[in-house]
Amino acid sequence: MSANVQRDVIRSRQFDQAFIDEILAEPGGEHLLDCWSCGTCAATCLVRRYESSFNPRLVLHKAGLGLREAVLSSPEIWHCSACDACYDRCPKEIHISDVMKAIRAIAIREGYEPPGPFAEVDEDVCSGCAVCTRACPYEAIERVERIVAIADGETRHVAQVDKYLCMHCGVCVAACPSGAMSLEVFSDQELLMRMGAGGWLEQKGFLDGGDVEEPRILLFVCQWSLRTDAELQRVAERYGDRVQVVNLPCSGRVDPSMILLALTKGADGVLVVGCEDGDCHYLRGTYLGRSKVALLDTVLGQMSAIEAGVRMAPQRVRFARLTAYDRYVLPRLIDEFSAEIEALQVTPTVSVE
Ligand code: FES
Repeated sequence: MSANVQRDVIRSRQFDQAFIDEILAEPGGEHLLDCWSCGTCAATCLVRRYESSFNPRLVLHKAGLGLREAVLSSPEIWHCSACDACYDRCPKEIHISDVMKAIRAIAIREGYEPPGPFAEVDEDVCSGCAVCTRACPYEAIERVERIVAIADGETRHVAQVDKYLCMHCGVCVAACPSGAMSLEVFSDQELLMRMGAGGWLEQKGFLDGGDVEEPRILLFVCQWSLRTDAELQRVAERYGDRVQVVNLPCSGRVDPSMILLALTKGADGVLVVGCEDGDCHYLRGTYLGRSKVALLDTVLGQMSAIEAGVRMAPQRVRFARLTAYDRYVLPRLIDEFSAEIEALQVTPTVSVE
């Protein structure tokens, strides 16, 4: 064996039958020992495509051996986003996300913490409207009562995130109408900062009579759909300042008000790139992202039809789906989108502050 290869040595005393029994007794964990360890789940796993350290087969194998400490302390048990892509392919029809959930439930009871980040609520700003509760694909947000004035016992409702269920997709942050939800790295402030990086949004766009020769495009990209720095590097080299890229945790995080802001501040078009249907890591993120763009497109169309002075043409917002294996497709999409925008010859006059 090469000196560089490290192997874990498992001692027989580490096998803990009580741990196996605990998982089997947990709802969803009852199929743990049905696993053949064939690896079909690992080959199908959407998370594994990008996080090579995550291997559902190995997690189940270790759990089936009763390796309590190794399994419960592993960050991998929190990686599964319950997309259930593996379920269709598993020859034993094991609902692996349920087994993972059972293992997590034991981890929580034993005091292990998920690695995060999680969505957070600013209770001072939260209006308790519960829009986030309905938007969350994981039912990780509850509307709870809080006492705001101890003396007279006055209460109000606020959102509360269960960090053990939160998968940090950011859908709640985009849905929150009062700006009370945030997610590390993908908060509203951070996205706005990236949108305007380098004064990008302060310059006039192509359709607005700016001195650029081609349309300026803002690109929101789901970090899973195009998980290759080389592809984004190609975009940066080919388009320079003309195309500004903002990464999202999922296309479901896209916020229509940010798209409108970009269009009124100098972007000629906004392209939102999400995963293929069925490939979204967060259950219905692609559906949400696509629906938001479609709705915005309709609204812009109505605005342009109603008032001749307001010519915010709907074709300036687009949703596209890509997989991590799509190479050289993004530049083609940008070129096609740019050509269509050039043909519009309209001037945006809606202002969003
Ligand atoms: Fe890519 Fe949801 S994870 S669109």
